[in-house]
Amino acid sequence: MEKPFRRRDLLGIRNLTAADITGILDTAENFSEISAREVKKVPALRGKTIINLFFEASTRTRTSFELAAKRLSADAVNISVAASSLSKGETLLDTAMNLDAMAPDCIVVRHSSAGVPHQLAKVSQAAIVNAGDGANEHPTQALLDAMTIREHKGKIDSLEVAIVGDILHSRVARSNIHLLTKLGAKVRVAGPGTLVPKDFEYLVDQQYNVAVRDPQPVIGEHRSAVRNPHLLKVCPHIEDATDGADVVMILRIQRERQDAAYFPTLREYSIHYGLTNERLDLAKRDAIVLHPGPMNRGIEIASDVADSSRSLILDQVKYGVAVRMAVLYLATGGTMSADQT
Ligand code: CP
Repeated sequence: MEKPFRRRDLLGIRNLTAADITGILDTAENFSEISAREVKKVPALRGKTIINLFFEASTRTRTSFELAAKRLSADAVNISVAASSLSKGETLLDTAMNLDAMAPDCIVVRHSSAGVPHQLAKVSQAAIVNAGDGANEHPTQALLDAMTIREHKGKIDSLEVAIVGDILHSRVARSNIHLLTKLGAKVRVAGPGTLVPKDFEYLVDQQYNVAVRDPQPVIGEHRSAVRNPHLLKVCPHIEDATDGADVVMILRIQRERQDAAYFPTLREYSIHYGLTNERLDLAKRDAIVLHPGPMNRGIEIASDVADSSRSLILDQVKYGVAVRMAVLYLATGGTMSADQT
């Protein structure tokens, strides 16, 4: 059986092949019914230890990794950074090496700096799973988005996907752009010019179905790639992106990552880029709406859109548990699509 990811770390989507991604999604599909059982537990990871090391706030990702570990019978430990020796001046790498000395099988890490999971992977015996690193990647978010799309559209290949919002600061956008284009979807991104640089079209190249050999953080890597607007197109207006789209993915305005005024006011942003029913009506009649959360109602998405039958925002959260079960299972030695239940 082909290994799902190099050294069993999941550092990003960029270094995965289309076959890797499909294998993870198929494995997640096998796991998804466990969460619907009365007794939501299988012994697949009995005896394994998972450490959740979150340096940034999280509701969905942290909870679903913990639930995923517990539903697979692993021992799950959450490190509270505020209560750890990091607050006494210990370096990140020393903390990681000390945790690694306790022989966990997998460390799940979220950090505000791009590349932290890659650094940890160099010093750790445990598999490292990236739960979001700065503006670089959020691979399990893209995988759960893909699972949501696949469950509702039956495919990803040839779909038109609009991603709207703060693309510049979004690890969700980067991971989704890599994943969706590797699986044959066409992606259009839209937002204020200050938050959607035109050179984003260089983020994917024509080798999009080939694993990138060097799994380094992607920041800046698109400068050497070949622009391919058939796969990824930057649109000036939200209407250009949503017109005829099968999937509309709305991103949060990330004030915490913005070091400058990228637009005059939130109200102005909402007027020009907020997803309303009128703008959604430009998409295909059966278009679906995704948002990774946390959501700012009335800013990037109108409340009536968020609560409509076309919105699959809570389905995304539901599939997040299955995807993280699959990722933990594969990262700790499981094989793809095997019957684990
Ligand atoms: N989508 C996402 O990563 O949400 P959290 O920040 O709540 O984990």
